[in-house]
Amino acid sequence: MTKAGIAEDFPPLVVPSKRADFGDYQANGAMAAAKAMKEKPRDLAQRILDNLDLGEETDRLEIAGPGFINIHLNRAWLAEQLQTALGNERLGVDSEKPLQRVVIDYSSPNLAKEMHVGHLRSTIIGDTQARLLEFLGHEVIRQNHVGDWGTQFGMLIAQLEAHLEHGENAEFALQDLESFYKEAKTHFDADPDFANKARSYVVKLQSGDERVLSLWKRFRQVSLHHSEIIYDKLNVSLSPEDVRGESFYNDDLPRVVSDLAEQGLLEEDQGAKVVFLQELADKEGNPSVAIIQKQDGGYLYSTSDLAGVRFRVGTLKADRIMIFVDARQSLHLKQVFTIARKAGFAPHSVSLEHHPFGTMLGEDGKPFKTRQGGTVKLADLLDEAVERAEKIIAAKDPDLDADERKVVARKVGIGAVKYADLSKTRTNDYVFNWDAMLSFEGNTAPYLQYAYTRIQSIFRKAGVDPSSLDKALIIEADAEKSLVIKCLQFGEVLEQVAEDAYPHVLCNYLYDLASLFMRFYEACPILKEGVDPALRDSRLRLSFAVAETMRVGLDILGIEVMERM
Ligand code: ARG
Repeated sequence: MTKAGIAEDFPPLVVPSKRADFGDYQANGAMAAAKAMKEKPRDLAQRILDNLDLGEETDRLEIAGPGFINIHLNRAWLAEQLQTALGNERLGVDSEKPLQRVVIDYSSPNLAKEMHVGHLRSTIIGDTQARLLEFLGHEVIRQNHVGDWGTQFGMLIAQLEAHLEHGENAEFALQDLESFYKEAKTHFDADPDFANKARSYVVKLQSGDERVLSLWKRFRQVSLHHSEIIYDKLNVSLSPEDVRGESFYNDDLPRVVSDLAEQGLLEEDQGAKVVFLQELADKEGNPSVAIIQKQDGGYLYSTSDLAGVRFRVGTLKADRIMIFVDARQSLHLKQVFTIARKAGFAPHSVSLEHHPFGTMLGEDGKPFKTRQGGTVKLADLLDEAVERAEKIIAAKDPDLDADERKVVARKVGIGAVKYADLSKTRTNDYVFNWDAMLSFEGNTAPYLQYAYTRIQSIFRKAGVDPSSLDKALIIEADAEKSLVIKCLQFGEVLEQVAEDAYPHVLCNYLYDLASLFMRFYEACPILKEGVDPALRDSRLRLSFAVAETMRVGLDILGIEVMERM
């Protein structure tokens, strides 16, 4: 464009075309440039074309409408690109960005209670990001910042102690954390002696009293085990080694306070130590206030998060820190990040990112609850998903043997729940709907898994191992060409999600890919008699490219595929 006399700050604006007759891509940059240069857009577009040396990747360019430039890619070149991609274990996806060390804080449930649906989003969106960045070659450090510290643990371990004294074991007493919590709370409210004991346990816990500490450890261990069962069910890549909760930072909290004081950031406010943040002031100009230490000396959620930022920067040596927690914690994290910068805990070279998300809603548009109005346990929800999937699969394919049906039901049920969530724009609330997410039509996990099995069945019918077909691809029909181009866009899509952490972009891509495949499959016979063997092999090969892209894409979303369903 510069050769056509256009200033460098005007980008070519190349995007995929909406319709095949507008070419494969479109460059829309001539219009804005022409406007600024007070020229006719079509004249300018023509000058761009006159100054362009077409490479082997482009067949021809043409000007359309008010000044769009349609780009028609070369089929042989496209075929070669996909051929190369298929020979590569990462499907030719090469990260162009410098590789980073990325700390991802996700799932992070509060251990005082059972994991509920509120933790689903953080867990699966964060896990997708971790898998994706790893796939692109980045070094990912997962951090499960569990809530395992704070005053409520005094009450909980005092209650646990009472159970143990009655000869119960901890696993039994804590098998249902939800009701255990309620029981402890009722006890606390009704019995002043118990309440006093609970309070004294908080103090003892903080001062490192061995007996109280060992009770706390028991509690923590059993509760963590509950979460691990869920991670397992969910096919989430978090392991026990990734747990680094609030308690880990406990010893560092006095130093956070003294460092902030040294930096002159701390002020006294009604006995508490606080930081006033003018940069986060409200509309009236009142500064935002972050409490760092309470009047009674207690520390807060912010204090351990500040220690967390320092640890992740200083010890884990993160280039990028991504925290996946719901939108209601936006102000909290803004405060933490602002203070961390001002205090020098995180230099500007380290990116601090909160990736918020909306709430999962019930059919009534209100936050998702049980029919009785209680919180829905994640474990129950996942079991129900698998049961529902099993019924649907049994009806669809009665010949599938029982063992295989169980495996498929697990993959489909869990996949459906995850995909329904991941395919919605993260920052919006969304309505949880069993029928929609388990449908075999539309943008759902079962649809994609089914498309994958369809392709596998073609290979079975053909009796070939598609990975062994290494003949060149032939692009004949338009449906083949658009499918090849779609496959080749995989890397761009992944880069975009790596940057913005919006997994629905990847979901939409996979859905488009599957839909284009169906169109290709209808338009281009593969195993029909009379199809030239070279073309047949090429189409098998293209089908293989689609299947591999889907398998890898779904794997990044933490969703499993199967050979048949
Ligand atoms: N435990 C918190 C909760 O359940 C989430 C923690 C998110 N991570 C963080 N570094 N604050 O709300």
